[in-house]
Amino acid sequence: MSRFIIEGGNRLHGELRIPGAKNAVLPILAATILNRGTSIIKNCPNLEDVKTMQEILSSLGLEVQRDKQSIIVNGKNLTANEIPESLAGKMRSSIVLMGAVLGRIGEIFISYPGGCSIGPRPIDMHLSSLRKMGAEIDDLYKGILHCKVKRFQGTEILLDYPSVGATENIMLAACLAEGETIIRNAAKEPEIVDLQNFLQALGVEIYGAGTGVIHITGCREIEKDVTYSVIPDRIVAGTYMACVAATGGELVLTGADYEPVSSIAYLLRNCGVSIERLDSKNMRIKSDQNLKAIEVIRTSPYPGFPTDMQPQFVAVLSKASGTSVVIETVFENRYGYVEQLMRMGADITVRERVAVIKGVKRLTGAFVDASDLRGGAALTIAALSAEGTSIINNVMHIDRGYEALEKSLGMIGAKIRRE
Ligand code: UD1
Repeated sequence: MSRFIIEGGNRLHGELRIPGAKNAVLPILAATILNRGTSIIKNCPNLEDVKTMQEILSSLGLEVQRDKQSIIVNGKNLTANEIPESLAGKMRSSIVLMGAVLGRIGEIFISYPGGCSIGPRPIDMHLSSLRKMGAEIDDLYKGILHCKVKRFQGTEILLDYPSVGATENIMLAACLAEGETIIRNAAKEPEIVDLQNFLQALGVEIYGAGTGVIHITGCREIEKDVTYSVIPDRIVAGTYMACVAATGGELVLTGADYEPVSSIAYLLRNCGVSIERLDSKNMRIKSDQNLKAIEVIRTSPYPGFPTDMQPQFVAVLSKASGTSVVIETVFENRYGYVEQLMRMGADITVRERVAVIKGVKRLTGAFVDASDLRGGAALTIAALSAEGTSIINNVMHIDRGYEALEKSLGMIGAKIRRE
């Protein structure tokens, strides 16, 4: 089990390139299941969840290879319909395999998905939508779902909430369905648009992603050789921005689109951080560490402030002057990391979905445990800006979303090593 040893108090300086987005590459890899041709997916980050998805595709009989940043999937033979429980249980995204595998071969056995422990993450919208499209779904013993469909039927689906995963699942199911599917109140995240762009590259008639209403017209079969490059990871970009905000210094981020991180940039500016757009793909972040509190921040679906940046912001606000209030509206229980931040001297009170952060003058190094991905990133930010040495255990949670984080941070002057 790895841990990070971080000596805090160093300003960060330099340049970092933003890798491909985890939350975009996972549904795109699931979408390759629909294609009988060869899909070359470029700009794939080297992350645990991506490896798990590769293993799942291989276990279904597809030919999968990794070549540096590209993953090549040949979808000619899809010979199995069972997702090994050991793999599905590792990550939340495994649920989007339902739409793709059912669409292509009409049957799947899959266990309930895993992922970070950030409160209950039901899949009711996934199941009711796929049922509405014609799937029969039985909950077998031990939480294994058995789903069958002759052919999905296009239909109109109004989501109760713009769930990212449910939107992706329906998009995938609709590609080989009979007729048109319309998703209303669809998620608008950039990763949804990226999935649409990939499906369009496969020849699927789909439009509307990013607007909240998505139209997909199904076809009989997809067989196309395509090359597609995944968008940059806006949460990794936001995390680096938060690191510099907390430690002080100057960082240029390259290969990162501004629009997807605009809500993060907006709030960091309100804290007193300077963020300059250099051109369409590059930006400069400067911080003198004199941070101001933010009255209220609410997480919400895109284009609102992302829940996946909430812990990193709480870490930044721990040292801002004044009192900040953060309201988590997306997940029920996403403050598991706060206790660990308090071990470093942060003054935070959590009541249900609300965290009140009273800025302190300094944080001090401590022994802490990462219990989930973004919470782990928050502890790293706090440790970088703390006085003294911190040890962060259970770095495997951080590795699920950041590729060799210690190497990137080391390149810009952080004193961090893995043990
Ligand atoms: C995705 C992201 C995750 C991000 C989240 C919200 C991936 C792999 N993960 O997760 O990093 O934090 O979007 O931006 O892309 N819900 C239900 N029933 C359902 C589905 C969802 O009640 O059937 C609820 C969830 O419990 C949660 C909320 O809806 O409270 C949002 O979940 P959703 O948008 O589906 O998130 P994920 O797709 O799991």
